[in-house]
Amino acid sequence: MKLWAGRFSAETNKLVEQFTESISFDKRLYKYDIQGSIAHIKMLAKQKIVSIEESKKIIKALKIIEKQIDDGTFEFKQEYEDIHLNIESKLIEMLGQDIGGKLHTARSRNDQVAVDVKLYLKDEYKNLKKILKQLLTILVELAKKNKNVLMPGFTHLQHAQPIYLAHYLLAYFQKFKRDLLKLNEFFKILDECPLGAGALAGTTHNIDRFYTSKLLDFSKPTDNSIDTVSDRDFILDYLYVVALIAIHLSQMSEEFIIWSSQEFNYITISDAFTTGSSIMPNKKNPDVCELARGKAGRLISNLNALMIMLKGLPMSYNRDLQDDKKILFDSADIVKITLQVFCAMLKEIKFNNEKLSESLKKGYIEATDIADYLVAKGIAFRAAHHISGELVKYAISKNKSLQDLSLEEYQKFSDKFDKDIYGAINFMNIVERRKSYGAASKKSIDLQINQALAFLK
Ligand code: ARG
Repeated sequence: MKLWAGRFSAETNKLVEQFTESISFDKRLYKYDIQGSIAHIKMLAKQKIVSIEESKKIIKALKIIEKQIDDGTFEFKQEYEDIHLNIESKLIEMLGQDIGGKLHTARSRNDQVAVDVKLYLKDEYKNLKKILKQLLTILVELAKKNKNVLMPGFTHLQHAQPIYLAHYLLAYFQKFKRDLLKLNEFFKILDECPLGAGALAGTTHNIDRFYTSKLLDFSKPTDNSIDTVSDRDFILDYLYVVALIAIHLSQMSEEFIIWSSQEFNYITISDAFTTGSSIMPNKKNPDVCELARGKAGRLISNLNALMIMLKGLPMSYNRDLQDDKKILFDSADIVKITLQVFCAMLKEIKFNNEKLSESLKKGYIEATDIADYLVAKGIAFRAAHHISGELVKYAISKNKSLQDLSLEEYQKFSDKFDKDIYGAINFMNIVERRKSYGAASKKSIDLQINQALAFLK
């Protein structure tokens, strides 16, 4: 019999059971549900709302149920809708109404589900932060290894100015570091216990919400019972950061896809992280990167889906909210596996240093520094920019690089040019002169690496 069947005269339509169930996906919350129930019954005993005897029996039975679910011997029933009622029904079956029926005193599924999801998320935050830290560590290691590797930096996917590969890798470090900081911040906001908010208005029983909060490792109980059972902002927060992580992974993926093409050949992705073609024996495809790019779309739409679900809801609990978990689990699972596969792939990635430095010679990436050279000799930047631009046009017409032009050719454009121009446009010199805070020089990179290592400690 359904635990809420008292006021009903007709059986639930089978289609309705199928339509309203969530056990098929919320069963993975069972450990958190049991953890929440144990805290709740301990509190009820402490407050003398149930006897110590009763609470001990209930805790024992809950642990047996947990073991059965662990072992796969527990039979989940669709007619019991969700994880909460499946467990409670079993408890009553084991202990009888008189004892088993007491667990739900001063509680509703509305505060119960909120606490379950928060407990689940606390774990997910920890898991995610761990993998994210691994990625950050790998990025710093790669940066350390590639401090001397020069390459073109891009804007608009056009050669812009020379940089070290390390500076590029550390740019991603910053993005993922911010993601980690956001996780820390959102975790703090989530850290309030919903248990005891009841259906929406709290309870008449003399409960101790601070005690259950403590037992469940929350900093405090939530402040408003109506808000508590309606609130899913903490899921949105998580979905947002997770989508952002996916966006960053997708951006890197896009670059790696381009860079691993024959045309670029900047990187070689290890065979273990690529796949072949069923028809073309020659193919080695960057499918991991493509899937990471593709899955980012799903994570963004999961965030959207929950925002859309929430935007029209009146206070307080509405059943729409049940499907939040499907969305949440999907995003949480995807982001973890994507990060894991990315960490493993990055460890084996090969940067083709020769190709990187070879490509510095394309795209006239010394042009800004030619302008800066003239500025140092007293010419206004706009005029210097124009002269440098004319030199680029001239070099293109002669099919020469800027480093190949003779001093006479330079001097046709300005009498300020001297022999020292060649030093000024040496690629390494160009980068090394960029010493301002956060800029591309090795000094700046060393500082970034030290800061990164300090952060990771
Ligand atoms: N399965 C429900 C959910 O996930 C639990 C809460 C149900 N509450 C209710 N009053 N029907 O949201």
